[in-house]
Amino acid sequence: MFAKCSLFLALLVAAASSTPVTQDNTMIGYSDAVGMFLHAWQKIIPCGFAADDLPVLAPLTVDFYAFNYSNGNTNIVGNVSNIRISGLNNFQILSGGYNDSTQRAFFDVIFPQLQILGSYEIEGTFGVGGFPLPIKQSVLINKKLTDWRFIGEYTFAQSNSNGLRISDFDLKYLVAGVKADNWNKYMDVATNNFMNEFIESFSLLFAEEIQPYVNTLFATYYLPAINDLLANLNLTQLTEFFVMQAEMWNNADCHVKA
Ligand SMILES: *[C@@H]1O[C@H](CO)[C@@H](O)[C@H](O)[C@H]1NC(C)=O
Ligand SMILES: *[C@@H]1O[C@H](CO)[C@@H](O)[C@H](O)[C@H]1NC(C)=O
Ligand SMILES: *[C@@H]1O[C@H](CO)[C@@H](O)[C@H](O)[C@H]1NC(C)=O
Ligand SMILES: *[C@@H]1O[C@H](CO)[C@@H](O)[C@H](O)[C@H]1NC(C)=O
Repeated sequence: MFAKCSLFLALLVAAASSTPVTQDNTMIGYSDAVGMFLHAWQKIIPCGFAADDLPVLAPLTVDFYAFNYSNGNTNIVGNVSNIRISGLNNFQILSGGYNDSTQRAFFDVIFPQLQILGSYEIEGTFGVGGFPLPIKQSVLINKKLTDWRFIGEYTFAQSNSNGLRISDFDLKYLVAGVKADNWNKYMDVATNNFMNEFIESFSLLFAEEIQPYVNTLFATYYLPAINDLLANLNLTQLTEFFVMQAEMWNNADCHVKA
């Protein structure tokens, strides 16, 4: 559970302190604790941390994963191989903070560059407007995302068990650029170029089009799990958790370069 949510928790609660904190833990505010947590997370993910089930995420690699998806006229069998996503540790915290009196937090985090390499193969039929379209692809993936930015705000409310609960969550995300250089071996050069241009403009359009649904998707898929984790913690305990976790990861002394 923790591993599944840690990236989202990290993004969610981003708040940074540029000055190193040297007080004892009881003096560290929520915002500083989150900043310490994120900087420690950034340092540890090239190594991973087995005790927390935290896999190596910089780079994130998947050697092979097969899937088989069926839904109506869509029946697809395929697999991805040699996936490598780099850049997840290179985020910057542009701003972040927490207001004690309103219990509202805000954050602004950017991943300057993510690179996705690998390949996938799929075969089957794809249901479009009631018709099963045959599909067969064998694609080398070579994709780059620039300036992927998350800007968000949320308020801490009280959970049923007197712990914390996130309410009024508002997230926006922006992508400045998508560069696709994929290669589908079943297509000629012109079609591959066309597909890459399509992916580039579609990805940017998709980022804009999805904006109104981001909060709903987040509320449906991630908030319940995050609120379960928060339900029995008060702000002091959550702050201590971030500080302790940061210390554990810093002590692991990860020197792997991602
Ligand atoms: C995919 O799943 C379907 C339904 O579960 C099954 O009938 C089919 O044999 C599977 N195909 C492959 C290649 O695993
Ligand atoms: C990967 O998927 C493709 C398309 O379904 C299939 O032809 C190929 O045999 C699969 N490769 C492996 C190693 O399973
Ligand atoms: C916290 O929010 C209150 C109410 O909006 C505002 O008056 C106050 O200035 C804020 N505090 C800080 C430190 O921004
Ligand atoms: C938070 O919870 C702990 C453990 O129940 C308790 O000792 C502490 O007083 C609480 N802190 C606040 C600020 O409510």
